[in-house]
Amino acid sequence: MEKEERNSCDDFLSWALPKMNMRRKGFKKVRKQVCKRIRRRMKELDLENYQEYRYYLHDNPQEWGVLDQMTRITISRFFRDKKAWMELGNNLLPPITEKANAYRRNVRCWSAGCASGEEPYSFTILWREKILPAFPDASLELLATDADSHLLKRARQACYGPGSLKEVPRKWKDKAFYRDDSVYCLRDPYCKMADFYQQDIRKEMPDGEFDIVFCKNLVAMYFKKELAVNIFKKISGKMRKGAYLFLGSHEEFPLDEVKNITEFDRGINIYRKE
Ligand SMILES: C[S@@+](CC[C@H](N)C(=O)[O-])C[C@H]1O[C@@H](n2cnc3c(N)ncnc32)[C@H](O)[C@@H]1O
Repeated sequence: MEKEERNSCDDFLSWALPKMNMRRKGFKKVRKQVCKRIRRRMKELDLENYQEYRYYLHDNPQEWGVLDQMTRITISRFFRDKKAWMELGNNLLPPITEKANAYRRNVRCWSAGCASGEEPYSFTILWREKILPAFPDASLELLATDADSHLLKRARQACYGPGSLKEVPRKWKDKAFYRDDSVYCLRDPYCKMADFYQQDIRKEMPDGEFDIVFCKNLVAMYFKKELAVNIFKKISGKMRKGAYLFLGSHEEFPLDEVKNITEFDRGINIYRKE
């Protein structure tokens, strides 16, 4: 029965994801999570099987929006891909900050697909603990966007289970978080530096140009190539000359299709705008 269920969900995903401009391969490791949500939804709708859900989608096109939400993978953690964060703090951010200071402007950072805030808050921790001591006059504008309003609500609450904090250096963890029962909550000065907005990256992006863009485990992982290329071209338009783009460790940037972006460090998936 279990095998049968797995096959039918796989068949359903193979049918539905391409129609949504999604990349089937990206869901390989997380299909269980998506299938569970779909099963729950089918139960809510009193549908017996995936075939009935297909008919339901056909008769109720607005259901594609619900399915779209069910495909959002929400896994994240602080300082995910730590080597890239260390490169950022040690070697990339200091010259960017120096230049921004010289032009009397903010360093601008955008975390796209920010989940519950783990990524933008990793940045605020890095900024306060590593950059500000060396550049006390520097100022930061940090925008974090996600399509999911529930995740953004959690991001604003800024409390996390211990598993999310495993890669936060001990010294920073003690300084930046306080314990509240079983969770760790980020202290105000670290939270206040990030502004969260609900945005679907397929439809809109924040205004202005950025020095650092995180687009990790989202566009290259889950969207079909054509859509991904389209979005990356727009992201490139949002990057200042010399700005850096961070992707997830299993993602690949379509270098052939997007001009002006080059590989900065393939090993840790950092790209640069020429
Ligand atoms: C796997 S998480 C990655 C979180 C974080 N960037 C990281 O790498 O740890 C993907 C995030 O992208 C968000 N997302 C999915 N589709 C999106 C879309 N079309 N526009 C904006 N965010 C989206 C999800 O809600 C989720 O928070």
